[in-house]
Amino acid sequence: MPPKLAEAFERIQREIDAAFDAFLPVPEGARARLVEAMRYAAIGGGKRVRPLLVCATAGLFGVDRDAAVNAGCAVEAIHSYSLIHDDLPCMDNDDMRHGKPTVHRAFDEATAVLAGDCLHALAFDILTMPGTSSDPFVRSELVATLAKASGHEGMAGGQMMDIVSETREYDLRQVTRLQQLKTGALLAASVELGAILGKVPPGGRTPLRAYARDVGLAFQIADDLLDVEGDEEKAGKALRKDEEQGKQTFVTLMGREAARQQAEALVDQASRHVAGYGKDAQVLIDLAHFVVKRDH
Ligand code: IPE
Ligand code: IPE
Ligand code: MG
Ligand code: MG
Ligand code: MG
Repeated sequence: MPPKLAEAFERIQREIDAAFDAFLPVPEGARARLVEAMRYAAIGGGKRVRPLLVCATAGLFGVDRDAAVNAGCAVEAIHSYSLIHDDLPCMDNDDMRHGKPTVHRAFDEATAVLAGDCLHALAFDILTMPGTSSDPFVRSELVATLAKASGHEGMAGGQMMDIVSETREYDLRQVTRLQQLKTGALLAASVELGAILGKVPPGGRTPLRAYARDVGLAFQIADDLLDVEGDEEKAGKALRKDEEQGKQTFVTLMGREAARQQAEALVDQASRHVAGYGKDAQVLIDLAHFVVKRDH
């Protein structure tokens, strides 16, 4: 990994852990267990790719770092909730995440559902804080963007398609759509939040959106390749599950070699989209390359 990118990851991982720690003090009484479960899921473990996308994009436009970290923490709260629910027995039924037992294993199913619900709510709470933006118009655009990317037109809609794909034949077009929603939507929203904080008008966001679309697809192809050929220890989660569960992915449709080539082509294309930002875009470009080379 290029040293600049490694440094950027270390920094954002520290900042997001600190932000969740500050947002989630453990209360007295029965709710302590709920907040403990939220902290268990949200603090430590994840790569923080989405917050890094927010901060690297916001950085292009000189946005205040604390504001960008807040927005990154909001996207990560949605991501963290989506993983808690994704691992539940009614979905992927997984026992390990981030190298430790999944939330419903470490706590119980009801607590896991509620911890996910509360992280979902926390995300929007954070976006409406004046510390995220002093401009109420910006705050409402942040909220609308993340809401759309999370719901039936975004991540959750993609999760539904993913479940349906277990029992139906999907073609490449349908799998692409599934992935764009399930994984692409939150990654695209991360870049979009950075641009919104930077007060970039929608017409000026085209190269960033194109970058995010390509990176999002490449990211999920890499996740599907990891499922087939990754190391469970490094990934921190059970692998070789997609085929067993009858999931349809780029790898099942195209084969490993073609899927890898596709992911690499997407990354090159993504890099070209942001080349116009010059050396300020280096973290975005390095991140795009990391996305397909990662082993976790
Ligand atoms: C895993 O996402 C689930 C997908 C959306 C493919 P990440 O690989 O970003 O998960 P963590 O948070 O870094 O573990
Ligand atoms: C999860 O996709 C995507 C979301 C949680 C939105 P996967 O089911 O492929 O993720 P892993 O492999 O469990 O991390
Ligand atoms: Mg899943
Ligand atoms: Mg899963
Ligand atoms: Mg997967």
